[in-house]
Amino acid sequence: MHLRITLFNLLLFFLLVSCKSENIGPNGPDDDDKNGNTDEYNFVCEIKSEEDGYKTYPLGPDNVPVGDVMPYYDTVSGTFYIHYLFDVWNDNTNVRHPWYGFGTDDYVNFTELPAGELIGTSSNACDQDYAIGTGSVIEKDGTYYAFYTGHNPTSPSNCINTKEGVMLATSTSLSNAFNKRSDFKTLFAPINLPFDHNDNFRDPYVYLNTESKKYSMIVSARKNHNGEWRGVIAHFVSEDLMNWNYEGVLFDGGDTNYFMMETPELFKLGEVYYLLYSDTGSRHVHYRKSSSINGPWEKPEGEERFAGVGIYAAKSTSDGIKRYLSAWTHRKQGESDFGDPLWGGNLITHEIYQTTNGDLALKIPESINSHYSSNELQIKSYEVEGSVEVIDTLEHSYNLSANNDGFASIAFRPIDNERYQINTSLTFTSGSEEFGLILGGCDAENEFYSLRFLPDKGMVSLEIKNRENIDDSVAPYNDVPLELDPNTSYEVKVIIENSMVVVYVDDKIALSSRVYKAMGNLWGIYSENGSVFIENIKVSTP
Ligand SMILES: *[C@@H]1O[C@H](CO)[C@@H](O)[C@H](O)[C@H]1NC(C)=O
Ligand SMILES: *[C@@H]1O[C@H](CO)[C@@H](O)[C@H](O)[C@H]1NC(C)=O
Ligand SMILES: *[C@@H]1O[C@H](CO)[C@@H](O)[C@H](O)[C@H]1NC(C)=O
Ligand SMILES: *[C@@H]1O[C@H](CO)[C@@H](O)[C@H](O)[C@H]1NC(C)=O
Ligand SMILES: *[C@@H]1O[C@H](CO)[C@@H](O)[C@H](O)[C@H]1NC(C)=O
Repeated sequence: MHLRITLFNLLLFFLLVSCKSENIGPNGPDDDDKNGNTDEYNFVCEIKSEEDGYKTYPLGPDNVPVGDVMPYYDTVSGTFYIHYLFDVWNDNTNVRHPWYGFGTDDYVNFTELPAGELIGTSSNACDQDYAIGTGSVIEKDGTYYAFYTGHNPTSPSNCINTKEGVMLATSTSLSNAFNKRSDFKTLFAPINLPFDHNDNFRDPYVYLNTESKKYSMIVSARKNHNGEWRGVIAHFVSEDLMNWNYEGVLFDGGDTNYFMMETPELFKLGEVYYLLYSDTGSRHVHYRKSSSINGPWEKPEGEERFAGVGIYAAKSTSDGIKRYLSAWTHRKQGESDFGDPLWGGNLITHEIYQTTNGDLALKIPESINSHYSSNELQIKSYEVEGSVEVIDTLEHSYNLSANNDGFASIAFRPIDNERYQINTSLTFTSGSEEFGLILGGCDAENEFYSLRFLPDKGMVSLEIKNRENIDDSVAPYNDVPLELDPNTSYEVKVIIENSMVVVYVDDKIALSSRVYKAMGNLWGIYSENGSVFIENIKVSTP
């Protein structure tokens, strides 16, 4: 590790030394670091192995990852039930994505539903539900109807040629196993219309249609629609949840030809209806708005997404006060940040809400925020690069001036904790090209992951390449659009639990990513070709 000694390092040294007497953090005296430190500290940059024991972003029993979620709020018990696809695919249990579930009151404490498997798969390779996929639960007369995807990966074979159909299981309890209903006729795409009849008919979402006073079911499908094949959201109607009639295409993607709009969901906030779906191509969650439950569906005023790739197959539920959007953040092959993304991961939940223009935005659930604010940890700097002005040592406020094509940064010592929150506020000056946070750092200059704020692009992105290799012509590791204006304070919160890294900016967007290297390495702040004022950096734990 090399440390560039500049005039500003020396300045920082004197500032830290001169503040020594009042430099007392909540954990006692801050006998700081290389820039005026007294304690020995040996940092070895390495990639730690993945930990278990996730709490805020849980895995299933035996650390089995969580797949597509089906959240449901039970008004009677005040419990959020999050049924999900248990990510087991034909292992020694010979099952393929059975439904399991969590219960939670607050999205901080989760309980595995003790029944374990709620809807299982068939062992007969000729059955439609040889494997199962996602769906949704609705209550009617004290019975919970769980509509799910019957998926047969062996199709077409000599005994089955429908890869997907919609099936039903019912239960009188959200925590117990559901009974498969053989009296329910498996629903397929209408045979007389140009749908894909062999595949791509899945992810039913069922709701009471307040306009027709009947039940509606929307299903992800593919259809030759107005002369071209495209992903569509097909609409079915029922009076009794048992017999369904095709009603038409609820949404065909409009000016976007999606291959598939997966896991659709429809909900209302205020006077606006929202149609949410996951794009198989970009792996992003998109949405459309309407003043009617039956459409037509319009693009939002702003961006059509509020998150990156880490919330696939997202669905929401509400306790009548707040609405929570849950999904999974993928793991990566070989537990490597450079591995391919895998299906399934940790359960993640954001609060989703309506902004003044009727668009949707995300923020940290208040329960998680307050849970992560209990104990403040001491922050110790490790390495400083370029022109760094200490504005307030105690509050950890800094001015990074990297004008004239410069670079300035501070890397802090690793945080030795399984889960913690970093929060701070950033204000940049007009003309700044890039600034942000250092994660998974080996040094403060080049070898770190960059949480990049890019005002010219209107993007917040996470890049895992070393600084010298960042190439803006290729897609970043993860990103989310956000308009960034100079002279404006942006509040940034990062919740880290082992390799789950979840970023919130200004109660508007969220970026959840798998970052194995975040554990136990340097973190900090940087600026390139511009100036940023970084105010009040705090690290706290539950
Ligand atoms: C989680 O649940 C436990 C046991 O019910 C309780 O003691 C604890 O206070 C809960 N924690 C939070 C943050 O709600
Ligand atoms: C931070 O640096 C910028 C640019 O050098 C300067 O305009 C601003 O006044 C500084 N802020 C503080 C609080 O010193
Ligand atoms: C900073 O300026 C240098 C030199 O003009 C340029 O090569 C680099 O791409 C700039 N960095 C950013 C983040 O814009
Ligand atoms: C950091 O979080 C704590 C607890 O939520 C809050 O009191 C504080 O104001 C936050 N600071 C910043 C700079 O956002
Ligand atoms: C930002 O603030 C500075 C100093 O107050 C001012 O000179 C500048 O015009 C402001 N820029 C914008 C874009 O508002």
